[in-house]
Amino acid sequence: MSLARRKVVVTAGPTREHVDPVRYISNESSGRMGFELAAAAARAGARVILIAGPVHQATPEGVTRVDVTSARDMLAAVQAAFLGAEGRSRAHFGRSGADALFMAAAVGDWRPKRRRAGKWRAKDGGDEVATLELVKNPDILATVGARKQDRLVVGFALETGDGLVRARRKLVRKGADYIALNDPTALGGARTSVTLIGRDGSKVELKNKSKRAVAEALVALGRG
Ligand code: CTP
Repeated sequence: MSLARRKVVVTAGPTREHVDPVRYISNESSGRMGFELAAAAARAGARVILIAGPVHQATPEGVTRVDVTSARDMLAAVQAAFLGAEGRSRAHFGRSGADALFMAAAVGDWRPKRRRAGKWRAKDGGDEVATLELVKNPDILATVGARKQDRLVVGFALETGDGLVRARRKLVRKGADYIALNDPTALGGARTSVTLIGRDGSKVELKNKSKRAVAEALVALGRG
């Protein structure tokens, strides 16, 4: 089956969790892999919704981009785009949901328990040590993976040490069809090595490839 006219949702970039109006917790994700995936899916003829955290990347041609900030914003956008939108967001995302989800975003696991309305002033406390209480963010992949039915869901992992075993566990725990296991040396670079692990027990190694080539290999999974 071709990807033409099929709907594909891609997430990319970091999430950002505010401590106060001018400070936040985030990570170093460039968003590059997700933007390459969105571009590759669009070239393959898919209708692509790219849900992007705060990054400086140009929107690929033919892609509909939705910018989000926090993990909870991203969860709401992914649910609407992938599972199907209700109410007012229907006009934006459509009612029926999508055929595939590529969860390339580096979603922050934690957010501050409370976001201060005004600036957090160091002088206020007078102490040399401060504590920031964090609460767990929702797991977007696991949340939608549990409701995906026969749609394709691809997650990503970055592991050090015994990556394969942990990635396989993650695949099952999060309900994905595939996990793309990234080599940590690839962070921020143009080339990368990825091991693609399938729910069906498959394992494909893509070694020292351009991110564009990896994106094309991943998008090809959607051809089914
Ligand atoms: N992910 C997500 N929601 C989160 C955290 C992660 O959807 N709150 C997704 C990522 O987009 C990625 C996959 O889950 O596709 C792997 O995330 P990772 O952080 O490696 O997995 P965790 O189990 O959250 O982390 P760890 O194994 O380090 O505990």
